Amino acid sequence: MRNNEQQHRTAVVTGAAGGIGRGIVESFLASGDRVIAVDTSSSALSELQTDLDPEGGFLQTMHCDVTDPRDWKRIAEAVEASAETSTVLVNNAGISPKRDGQKIPGDEIPLDEWTSVLSVNLTGPFLGIQALAPHMKITGFGRIVNMSSLAGRDGGRLGGVHYAATKTGLLGLTRSFAREMAPFGITVNAIAPGRIDAGMASGVSDEVNRNYLGRIPVGRLGHANDVAQAVQYLAAVENGFVTGVTVDVNGGSYMG
Ligand SMILES: NC(=O)c1ccc[n+]([C@@H]2O[C@H](COP(=O)([O-])OP(=O)(O)OC[C@H]3O[C@@H](n4cnc5c(N)ncnc54)[C@H](O)[C@@H]3O)[C@@H](O)[C@H]2O)c1
Repeated sequence: MRNNEQQHRTAVVTGAAGGIGRGIVESFLASGDRVIAVDTSSSALSELQTDLDPEGGFLQTMHCDVTDPRDWKRIAEAVEASAETSTVLVNNAGISPKRDGQKIPGDEIPLDEWTSVLSVNLTGPFLGIQALAPHMKITGFGRIVNMSSLAGRDGGRLGGVHYAATKTGLLGLTRSFAREMAPFGITVNAIAPGRIDAGMASGVSDEVNRNYLGRIPVGRLGHANDVAQAVQYLAAVENGFVTGVTVDVNGGSYMG
């Protein structure tokens, strides 16, 4: 049910059908916002639609690849067609290839795997911002949130060199775009989650996740909702003075 006194947004969420993405989608729907949920997994997208908005009133799913500029053109058209003028982009899609559930040593990463991680984790957000910035500039409002990682802060333990490199690169992209976009009412920020009990963390053994607990002062893994709360803070219409920052959501395991 919508609260008419609140200003509603159209939120584009990539990687929406994954563990963290779903939590982010739920948080926008709970605020009465429209969501354009983007993912490459059609089956997971239709499950998302059935579970969260079966009548399709507020959630629009789009089967798109964030590495493809033509798909971003379709997403931009969907945003422009939306009734809301306040646009949010959450660049959340990401991949972290493993070998038998384990980190791949950097000197063994094949070039094609390096290239595909760069394409999804870094080129994807770049293309997304390029695609949606013109509309945000016209409306004089935008909130962009890029999903980095603790690995982008400290080099990472469970993800490979390619993963850490892209997540650090995303912080530079965030700051540089933040400077350029600030005069247009657009903020650009990043979130660096630590170990979250969802999505790609399920790709490693319970033992690895249990061992990781000792590094987290709060004493638990994070939940998708912990990340979604940080997204909501950075995507708030009222929050126009915080830009170029990285919000660490890690239970105290890294204090930058
Ligand atoms: N889970 C964690 O512990 C953790 C920690 C730090 C950062 N992150 C980051 O959070 C984000 C979400 O991670 P998650 O744990 O939910 O992973 P996940 O694997 O559950 O979700 C990622 C989603 O992205 C989609 N995707 C992959 N490639 C795509 C592409 N080319 N175009 C569109 N969609 C694509 C996948 O289909 C999947 O649904 C990622 O950027 C990840 O790096 C996760």
